[in-house]
Amino acid sequence: MNSSQDAKRPSDSAVTLSVLMGPGDANLLGNVHGGVIMRLVDEAGALAAMRHARRSVVTVRLDSMSFLEPVLVGDLLQLKATVNWVGRTSIEVGVRVEAENPITGAHTHTNSAYAVYVALGEQGRPQEVCPLLLETDEEKRRWSEAETRREHRLQQKEEKAQEQKRP
Ligand SMILES: CC(C)(COP(=O)(O)OP(=O)(O)OC[C@H]1O[C@@H](n2cnc3c(N)ncnc32)[C@H](O)[C@@H]1OP(=O)(O)O)[C@@H](O)C(=O)NCCC(=O)NCCS
Repeated sequence: MNSSQDAKRPSDSAVTLSVLMGPGDANLLGNVHGGVIMRLVDEAGALAAMRHARRSVVTVRLDSMSFLEPVLVGDLLQLKATVNWVGRTSIEVGVRVEAENPITGAHTHTNSAYAVYVALGEQGRPQEVCPLLLETDEEKRRWSEAETRREHRLQQKEEKAQEQKRP
């Protein structure tokens, strides 16, 4: 059982991954594949969740992603992952993706995404995680927006389960 004394701040687990985009990440026109970016979003998000839980985690939900600007070969992709919300065993992480042209220094916000992870115990079953300590107004706003998204996700999950039961 975790107590509030074990609580961690979002900054305790926040992660920034910096990855140089190469030709193997892109199509023939030099645009980086959306799937490459999604994989890195999941990696950055999972790392933040693992650092919060200090356990293995699995992705239970990766929200739909829009790609606002192209990412090009030669860009330095920066993925900033921060824990927004924690439940009993699940953790929502927000990931902001920026592309930097290392020559001009120009930064582009290419997309943002939310992912939910579940911490696993030794038997591979969901395991309780420590609470999130909210200090700033921005952290409180993120928590409350994440709660709304969680309700929506669980409602969608329930609707899908009902659909599957229909003959
Ligand atoms: C993640 C997994 C262990 C959850 O198992 P489960 O039997 O649904 O467990 P629970 O019902 O206890 O749910 C665990 C938590 O996930 C949350 N959850 C489950 N489905 C969810 C969804 N679609 N969206 C958001 N949260 C969800 C639950 O609300 C619960 O959160 P809480 O403990 O904070 O309240 C199981 O679904 C699984 O193994 N999925 C495959 C994961 C995977 O392979 N990912 C890709 C590679 S990492």
